Amino acid sequence: MNKTGVTLLGSTGSIGVNTLDVIARHPDRFRVEVLAAHSSVEKMAEQVRRFSPRLAVLFDQGAARRLEQMNLGVKVAHGMDGLLEAAGWPDTQLVVSGMVGAVGLRPTYLALELGRRVALANKETLVLAGEAMVAAAQKSGAVMLPVDSEHNAIFQCLAGSPRRFVERLHLTASGGPFRDLPLERFGEITLAQALAHPNWKMGPKITIDSATMMNKGLEVMEARWLFGVPPENIQVFIHRESIVHSMVEYTDGSVIAQLGVPDMRTPIAYCLGWPDRLAMDTPRLDLAQMGSLRFQPVDPAKYPCLGLAVAALTRGGGAPAVLNGANEVVVAAYLEGRFHFSRIAGILTQVMEGLAQEVSRPQAPPFLTQISGVDDALAADQWGRQAATGLLPG
Ligand SMILES: NC(=O)c1ccc[n+]([C@@H]2O[C@H](COP(=O)([O-])OP(=O)(O)OC[C@H]3O[C@@H](n4cnc5c(N)ncnc54)[C@H](OP(=O)(O)O)[C@@H]3O)[C@@H](O)[C@H]2O)c1
Repeated sequence: MNKTGVTLLGSTGSIGVNTLDVIARHPDRFRVEVLAAHSSVEKMAEQVRRFSPRLAVLFDQGAARRLEQMNLGVKVAHGMDGLLEAAGWPDTQLVVSGMVGAVGLRPTYLALELGRRVALANKETLVLAGEAMVAAAQKSGAVMLPVDSEHNAIFQCLAGSPRRFVERLHLTASGGPFRDLPLERFGEITLAQALAHPNWKMGPKITIDSATMMNKGLEVMEARWLFGVPPENIQVFIHRESIVHSMVEYTDGSVIAQLGVPDMRTPIAYCLGWPDRLAMDTPRLDLAQMGSLRFQPVDPAKYPCLGLAVAALTRGGGAPAVLNGANEVVVAAYLEGRFHFSRIAGILTQVMEGLAQEVSRPQAPPFLTQISGVDDALAADQWGRQAATGLLPG
């Protein structure tokens, strides 16, 4: 069997490490061509020694220089040029887009334009420029495989059924660490608690987004573009066990769900192996042992960020990108301990109110009302970042 050449963007992160775990179990099927990350020199060096890629990219120039000085026998590159070289690497058939943040946009777009198979974890790509990404994939014939467990579940539930029979998507959410905490006690939340996700082990930014449920809001946006379903037909509810990863409801009333133990290696393996299924010896689901699976509606008062995200998607234009950029700034500042958890949604609400005011002005920048491509998406993201920065306490 010909091995699939893989470019892994974000190799040192949670998605990256899990992807390498899957690849390491199937050395007969995959060849790591390129690894890319931001500045984790030691981790990257270790991965280079183990997987022998032909190109290693560290976005940070100083970090890339240190990697080069280690003389590991690999070509080293840095910056956006390095990431674009990684995404467009000629011997790569599959690009795993697993970086965190808007930096993932250009490389992912290039991979789609070039018709590569793209396993997409970097949710910012679809949140900021979903329409442009889908258009690029359609034009080149690129296949976009969602890594996020919910979208991966929906992708699996859609297999074999024409999209015109889809009535609704049901996105499940764990509810994060505060699902049982009454709203009156949200003032007691600590950063350590917000970082302790009950079901999933993920990077810090997405873990905070799970606690606020902004993450689910971003997932509604992703689902809208990945599956072409309007926001009003995407339902979110809390499923605390994170066993049912999401569902598709069809016009005949049938609901198809995908279930599994919460382990990101399962959706990653699906994307890597697609259309085959890889053999994995990950923990297995034992429903009889579990006894019950619970589902409940989302309390909008506890999770205002979800409402903000759905409103931004409904507003359209640059609103999702503005919200996402603002959220990145606010979460980063929160992770630095600059303010309390309960202020996150308030700052983001102010940003979105500012946006509504701005777009009502005749001289408002066009990218706030219409995203025509990656540049517009990044401009709207930047607008959101600046607006949020101006509102941060201290
Ligand atoms: N973790 C999950 O289970 C999960 C599930 C669904 C979706 N996602 C999505 O997948 C993406 C990655 O999440 P994660 O949890 O894996 O994040 P993470 O653990 O924080 O890892 C982020 C990765 O991105 C790299 N990176 C950051 N900035 C970069 C830049 N400017 N240039 C190149 N590389 C850069 C980091 O490199 P350094 O180590 O050098 O900083 C690291 O490899 C996010 O969009 C997230 O929303 C994650």
